[in-house]
Amino acid sequence: MRRGSYFWYMNEKKPIGVFDSGYGGLTVLKEIVQLLPEYDYLYLGDNARAPYGPRSFETVYQYTLQSVKWFFDQGCELVILACNTASAKALRTIQQKDLPKIDSQKRVLGVIRPSTEIIGKLSKSGEIGILGTSGTVISNSYPIEIQKFFPEIKVFQEACPMWVPLIENGEYNQPGADYFVQKYLQQLLQQSPKIDTILLACTHYPLLIDKIRQFTPAKINIVSQGEIVAKSLALYLENHRDLADLCSKNGEIQFFTTDSASDFDNHASLFFGKSVKSEHIFL
Ligand code: DGL
Repeated sequence: MRRGSYFWYMNEKKPIGVFDSGYGGLTVLKEIVQLLPEYDYLYLGDNARAPYGPRSFETVYQYTLQSVKWFFDQGCELVILACNTASAKALRTIQQKDLPKIDSQKRVLGVIRPSTEIIGKLSKSGEIGILGTSGTVISNSYPIEIQKFFPEIKVFQEACPMWVPLIENGEYNQPGADYFVQKYLQQLLQQSPKIDTILLACTHYPLLIDKIRQFTPAKINIVSQGEIVAKSLALYLENHRDLADLCSKNGEIQFFTTDSASDFDNHASLFFGKSVKSEHIFL
């Protein structure tokens, strides 16, 4: 069917792409689908190359760009990087350098901006803690972005390099995880006794939330990103009607992974809250 013809247009699927290095983005997709069930979605987990957290800027950028191009090849007009590490290390370059060359009508959005736009409003003490991968913390993206919206807020960060491996290996609810949950929380909280809000700035971390709560003083508010990102996407689509109208709406979700599809299906329900059936792709 010739591109541009009415029939072709009517039949073309234009799902919203949701990307993560592995399973973590499913915690975001779950909230997005709950709020915006009418859209079609494609989820890609780059499980074969996860974790992204300890990798260099150049590597995360190359992997993320490859994935974004794959989404565009599938017909996506809009891609959400539901991964803080990719948002911190690759998003800006993709938006500024690559999109104008690939297709300036297409959009790639991340998870850092929606979180930093509101996080300052959640703290009474004016002191916020950020827990993320080494890559996210080293990039300094959170302090820089929060400063733009809330110049008076003080931001403290702690990298939690063992948390993603614990989660990806199904150890997140085992007693062995307690040591590393306490360790990074203590390292964060000893930076200032006034921290009253902690942002889980990695889309994997909601799986550890029960243990994080267990080892955090009750007066500290722990914030996950899924709902924040979903609300921000809904607003974005309201404000960008042309793009929203282009996206197809059959309420369908397809899952893809760069590693074993059966492994993905076995783990994914923990993150997504429902069983899924994925397909394998090579990038
Ligand atoms: N889920 C990713 C994030 O939000 C990190 C996982 C990884 O290290 O690959 O940063």
